Order: sequence, then structure tokens, then C-alpha cells
Amino acid sequence: MRKKIVAGNWKMNKTAEEALSLVSEIDNMVKDEVNDDVTVIVTPPFPFLQSVSKLTQGNDKLHLAAQDVSEHESGAYTGEVSAAMLKSVGVEYVLVGHSERRLYHHEDAQKLYQKMKAALKHGLKPIFCCGEPLEERDADRHFEYVGQQLKDSVSYLSNEEFDQIVIAYEPIWAIGTGKTASAEQAQEMHAYIREQLSQMFDAEAAFNCTILYGGSCNPGNAQEIFSKEDVDGGLIGGASLKSRDFTDIIKSF
Ligand code: PGA
Repeated sequence: MRKKIVAGNWKMNKTAEEALSLVSEIDNMVKDEVNDDVTVIVTPPFPFLQSVSKLTQGNDKLHLAAQDVSEHESGAYTGEVSAAMLKSVGVEYVLVGHSERRLYHHEDAQKLYQKMKAALKHGLKPIFCCGEPLEERDADRHFEYVGQQLKDSVSYLSNEEFDQIVIAYEPIWAIGTGKTASAEQAQEMHAYIREQLSQMFDAEAAFNCTILYGGSCNPGNAQEIFSKEDVDGGLIGGASLKSRDFTDIIKSF
């Protein structure tokens, strides 16, 4: 059985106080309302990781992710945060290759591969994000585009490294736009991703890989999307900033 995950990506939102109150609300709701078989992850901005980790460490139901990691080990990289630093404050997962980082910070495939390597070396689990822009979908090249993203970064991992990663399919046209992929569009892309992964690694490893959907997921559409065979959960942006909405999404399984 592969792991079901719902991860909230807070992006650049919340102050210290707001972050703590959001995570404690989520913690309480998840404790009371959510089945044990879903792994719930929160992804606050860097400055709040350590305080949030007081609630997630030793907590079976709530886990901590960072939004980014440096590909470098340590040294003169002003503004960067290393995998060892993240590990030392209790982070377990890290987003790699979110479309906003690819676009605004020009992170290319090679860098994303190196970021995954750095994370894995320190025992962090990368959540590798992929997804096509609208022009690629309109031109019917979305499968090819996402396949290439996997090939350019993920395919270079070893089998053991691949076992540690999570994939998030996030069509760029659906992120923060209120325009979700239909459950059918999500399913067909997830099945395609799994097929590509089975060619790069092996069928069993690909079968066991958790593949999340992201892009305007909300309490109203999560159930239908999560019901699809190859959709193993979600990466939630906007709706993860409200504890009630986020918990309702988690309960959609
Ligand atoms: P959204 O963001 O849910 O606000 O569309 C998803 C994401 O970017 O991870």
C-alpha cells in the first residue's frame, strides 16, 4: 500500500504568531478528525520551522516540510538554507522544483537534481514538483513536457534514492487560479507519470511511489480528485492557510 499524503504549502504567508496558531489548530483538528492512514504535512516559511517543529516532532499525525533547500552542503551562499540545517530543526520533507521556484528563481533540472541529492544525503524526503504551463497543454504536449521534467531530474536518482521521494503533479495553469484539473485529467497524468517512473526504475517502485495532485485543490473538489486510482493525495496552497478547509481536504480520503 502506498502512502497517502496531504501537504499544505504555506508559501510566503503568515507571521510567527499566525503560523503557530494555524499549526496548533491543524494539529487539534487532525488529532480529533483524521484517520491514521493519511500523512499530513505542513510547509511553513523558513523562520517558523523551528517553532512549528515543537508540535510536529514525535507527532505521528503531523509532519514538517520546508519549501526549498540549497544544493550546497555549507559555506558562502548568502540567503541559502542547507539540508543539514533543516534536518537539525526536525524537518522531514522538502519541496523541490515548485513551479514558482523554477519560474522566479530560474531553477533548472540539474539544480533540482542536486537539491534532491543534498536533501537525501541528510535523510530528508524530497517532494519533487512537476507540471506543464498552459501553452503546453493547449498544444497537447503536456505528457511529453512532464515526462521530460522527470527524465531531466528524477531519472538520475538511484533506486534507493527514488524510494524516498514523493512526486507532486501541479499543472501551472491550475496553481492559485481557482481552475482545477478535472479528476480525469489528474488521473491520466498520474498514470502516465507512474508509467514513466516504472521505466526509469522498476514497476514495483513506481507502484509504491506517492503521487500528489496540486493546483486549486479545495474542500469541494478534493474528494473526486483523491478518489482516482493513481492520485495519492494533494499538495495544497491557498486552502492550506485555513485550518478548517485544510482538514476538510484531508478528510476527503
Ligand atoms: P494552490 O497552490 O492550491 O493555491 O493552487 C498549490 C501549490 O502551488 O502547491
